[in-house]
Amino acid sequence: MSLFKLSPLEITLKKGKEKIAGITAYDYNMARLAESAGLDFILIGDSASMVVLGHPDTYPITLEEMLIFCQAVSRGAPNTLRIGDMPFLSYQVSIESALLNAGRFIKEGRCHAVKVEGGIEVVEIVSALVKAGIPVLAHIGVTPQRSLDIGGLKARGKDLETAKELLDSALALESAGAFAIVLECVPAEISRLITQRLKIPTIGIGAGPYTDGQILVFHDVVGLFPEMRPKFVKNYIDGFKIFEEALKTYQKEVKEGLFPEEKHSFKVDPQILEALSR
Ligand code: KIV
Ligand code: NA
Repeated sequence: MSLFKLSPLEITLKKGKEKIAGITAYDYNMARLAESAGLDFILIGDSASMVVLGHPDTYPITLEEMLIFCQAVSRGAPNTLRIGDMPFLSYQVSIESALLNAGRFIKEGRCHAVKVEGGIEVVEIVSALVKAGIPVLAHIGVTPQRSLDIGGLKARGKDLETAKELLDSALALESAGAFAIVLECVPAEISRLITQRLKIPTIGIGAGPYTDGQILVFHDVVGLFPEMRPKFVKNYIDGFKIFEEALKTYQKEVKEGLFPEEKHSFKVDPQILEALSR
């Protein structure tokens, strides 16, 4: 019996049969929601750096912090494929440290796979991880861990040079053994072309409708991060407003003495009160 509903291999085999729907999650309750909603996989993304820890980008989050989030998600979604996002410099330094750090996502974080950002430059690392038995989700296009040198988070693949680079990277990562590949902010027609050329599934975010699957950040799906609303996300509810309304009502009811009511309070035998007042 498999430990989880879908293994990385089963994700690969969905290509051409059924669209793949993934979401990020970072804590126990989000993971429970993702699992009960039936998502195909959960990515514990380094987007936690922004949406959970409040940093401006993904650079500051540490491996230790990521592992805590992975553990919480593992407890909340024990039956869902869980992929740990390797943070900046946890896989780029050497093959040996990449293997050991990826191993921590498996051994301590209880993840079933890891994700690494990058194209040709990470092929050797991906290959080593796969050879060690660690399934890898690749990630090309906009790669936030390269925003210092490739300049911001602009869509890639709009010109012939970067489009060709994306296709070459995707093919090389497939050959290295990645079980699927994230395409982030890639023009829809370039995603379509890459999707057609690959045997492994493409998972898009801001990459149009032709990829084999989609992934979104949890907070974006439920509208909990209103300060950042890129055009490719869809807020299915305005979570921030809904939560804020609830908090405001709570605050108001406390001030006005409307909460708590009798039904929220505990009672004591009147005889005890009497004895106390004697
Ligand atoms: O960290 C993250 O949430 C991601 C997804 C957007 C793919 O890398
Ligand atoms: Na990420």
